[in-house]
Amino acid sequence: MPFVYLNGQFLPAEQAMVSVMDRGFLFGDGVYEVIPAYGGKPFRLEAHLDRLRNSLEAIRIPAPLGEAQWRTLLEELLQRNPGEDQSIYLQITRGVMSKRDHAFDASLVPTLFAMVSPIGAPDPAVERDGVTAISLKDIRWESCHIKAITLLPNVLLRQQAIDAGAVEAILVREGCATEGAASNLFIANRGVLVTPPKGSHLLPGITRDLILELAAKHAIPYREAAISVEELHQAEEVWLTSSTKEILPVTTLDEKPVGDGKPGGLYRRMSALYREYKEQVRAGAAD
Ligand code: PDD
Repeated sequence: MPFVYLNGQFLPAEQAMVSVMDRGFLFGDGVYEVIPAYGGKPFRLEAHLDRLRNSLEAIRIPAPLGEAQWRTLLEELLQRNPGEDQSIYLQITRGVMSKRDHAFDASLVPTLFAMVSPIGAPDPAVERDGVTAISLKDIRWESCHIKAITLLPNVLLRQQAIDAGAVEAILVREGCATEGAASNLFIANRGVLVTPPKGSHLLPGITRDLILELAAKHAIPYREAAISVEELHQAEEVWLTSSTKEILPVTTLDEKPVGDGKPGGLYRRMSALYREYKEQVRAGAAD
């Protein structure tokens, strides 16, 4: 039975209970993070905690813990749930109120929850053959940079992709592809990597930032620029990235092959660099 953290206590998951009057339950009023941990060592923790702070500030929940307290809490959670490749799910809601009301009271005490789940090993079939994606209209709101737990559009878009035999939906807004339902987007042409710039139409992904950092370090040219739907469909390579999926090469998009229909050379190079970085984290030589 995994141990979870809830409001100051570590306890078996089945004993962790939240009030039905919690605003997370009634309104989806909260934010979250998903943080990988390799060999018990959190990956890019500072960047995840920075993004969490930004999300909390954006929805006006006062920071319930400081960075050092978050670090101690997550360390203990990982010690209580030993494992190799794991992801930490961290959720903060605005808290429990006495009656249902859209408006909120600044004095509410936020509900803090964290749990750990195993991350499956990268699938060799995906590395060899890639995955299928479809493009769909982005039906989300104007503040996609906030990692809000209110994920109904993302849930419906992802399911629509699954129902169409794909693994992810690539979202299109005003003629441009911005990101996936739960991932960031890259394209590559003639060895140059392109990803949309940060803004309110996409989540500032930690994996995205690491890929740009690795590109800079290894002299792989890249640009942060809008990707039109035409550019997406003509790209030689299309990738989706996230903390739990790492880098997924899309080889079929909207029922047509991407490039030659096989994962591209730049994907193979970046995937190797990413894996090397992960092993440095596991060995305690990077975070
Ligand atoms: N999702 N864009 C969206 C909409 C996301 O939900 C995610 C991650 C990303 C990638 O961000 P990162 O590289 O920091 O994981 C981009 C997580 C994994 C989730 O909701 O489970």
